[in-house]
Amino acid sequence: MQWGGRFAGGPSVIMQDINASIGFDRKLWRQDIRGSRAHAAMLATIGLLSAEDEDAIASGLEAIAQEIEAGRFAFDVALEDIHMNIEARLTERIGEAGKRLHTARSRNDQVATDFRLWVRDAIDGLTAQVSDVMLALAQRAAQHAGDPMPGFTHLQTAQPVTFGHHLLAYIEMLERDRGRLADCRRRLNACPLGSAALAGTSFPIDRAMTAAALGFDRPTANSLDAVSDRDFALEFLSAAAISAMHLSRLAEEIVIWCSAPYRFIRLSDAFTTGSSIMPQKRNPDAAELVRAKTGRVTGALVGLLTVMKGLPLAYAKDMQEDKEPVFDAAEAWALSLAATAGMVRDMVPDTARMRAFAGSGFATATDLADWLVRVLRLPFRSAHHVTGRLVALAEARGVDLADLTLAEMQAVEPGITDDVFSVLTVEASVASRTSYGGTAPANVAEQAARWLAVLA
Ligand code: ARG
Repeated sequence: MQWGGRFAGGPSVIMQDINASIGFDRKLWRQDIRGSRAHAAMLATIGLLSAEDEDAIASGLEAIAQEIEAGRFAFDVALEDIHMNIEARLTERIGEAGKRLHTARSRNDQVATDFRLWVRDAIDGLTAQVSDVMLALAQRAAQHAGDPMPGFTHLQTAQPVTFGHHLLAYIEMLERDRGRLADCRRRLNACPLGSAALAGTSFPIDRAMTAAALGFDRPTANSLDAVSDRDFALEFLSAAAISAMHLSRLAEEIVIWCSAPYRFIRLSDAFTTGSSIMPQKRNPDAAELVRAKTGRVTGALVGLLTVMKGLPLAYAKDMQEDKEPVFDAAEAWALSLAATAGMVRDMVPDTARMRAFAGSGFATATDLADWLVRVLRLPFRSAHHVTGRLVALAEARGVDLADLTLAEMQAVEPGITDDVFSVLTVEASVASRTSYGGTAPANVAEQAARWLAVLA
C-alpha cells in the first residue's frame, strides 16, 4: 500500500477486490511508463530531481518495461492499480529516487494522462483498420462497378443498382467513422499531467514540457476538469458505437446475401463454419458475430455515460470503471473491422444471379414511368399511374414488363412506341442513373478509382 501513513489496519478482502483495478488497468503499463518518464525528465529540468535520480528513474522504468514485456513482472492486487504497481517496483529496484517520482503528481492526473494516451494509440490503430476495410471495399467496388444487382427499399425490389455502388455506400459511412475518430483525437490531445489531485500544484512545474514530450498539443487548462473529464472516452465510444452499427449493417447484408434463397455471394471456408448436425450447412458466423459485437460496443457507451452522469467534480472512484468498457469496445471494434475486411476480400459474388434478380420484381418500372415523362411529356403522376396499370397487367399474366407486347401497352397508353423497350433492361436502367452520386457504372468506376487513389 502506498498511502498507508494514516491507516492502522489493512483493507478487508472484499474492499481489496472491489477497489483493485490491476486486473484490467495493467493494459496501461506502456502509457504509464511513458508518462512517468516525461514527468521525471520535467522534474529534473526544473531542479526538483537530481540528474542522477532522473537517470535511475529512467533506467529503472526501462527495466520494468522489459519485465512486463517478458511476463516476468509480479502484479500485486494489494497495490490496487498499474500506477502503484509500477511505482512500488521502481522503488524496490532503485530505492529513494523511486519515492521522488510522485512529486507534483497524483494518480488522478496520472490515470487521466495514461488513459488519454491509450485511447489515442487505439484511435491510431483503429483508424488504420477502418482505412483497410475501405480499401478492401474500394477494390471490390472497382471490380464490380458495372455488375447489376437489385436495389432495395423496405427490402422490396426497388431499382437496379450496381454491386460496386452498393459497396461504395459503406465506404462513405466508414469515411465518416474515420472523421469521428480524427475529431475525437483532436479534442483529447491535451495533457492532464500536472493537474495533480484536483487543484494543481505549488511546485514550479513545466506542463508545456510534459505535454510536448508526450505528443500532446497543449496542457489542459483547468485542473478540476482535467482529472474528472472522460469526454474523450465517451467520444471514442460514440465513434465506436456508430462504426460498429455500420459494420453490423454490412454484416447483416452479408448474412442475407449468403442465404440459400439469395445466394448473391459465397464466403469460403475461411469465413464460415459448419453445423455439428446438419451436414449441408455453411454458416456466416463471422458476419453474425460482427453484427452481435455492436451490442457490446453500444453497451459500453451507455454504460460509461451512466457511470459519469451523476459525478460531482472532481475525481471519484467511479471513474475507475471507465477502462473496461473502453478496452472491451476497442477490442470488439478491432475484431469486427478485421473480420469485415477479411469477408469483403473473401466473398465471391454470383454476378449472373444478382443480374437476374436485378431485373425481377418489375425493377425497371420507374424507368418506364420516366420514359413516359421524357418522350410523351406525361406529368409524372400520370406516368406513375399508367405504369402501375402496366405492372398490374404483367403481374396478372405472370411476365416481366419487357415481355408485354406493344399492343398490350398501347391499350393502356396509345402514345407508347417500340422505343419504350430500350429502357426496360437492367443495363439501360443503371446506365441512365448518371446524376452525381448515382449508380451508373461510369460514375461508380470513377468513384471507386477516386477512393483507391485516396486510400493508396
Ligand atoms: N486506479 C485509479 C483509476 O483508475 C487511479 C486513480 C486513483 N485515484 C485515487 N484518488 N484513488 O481511477
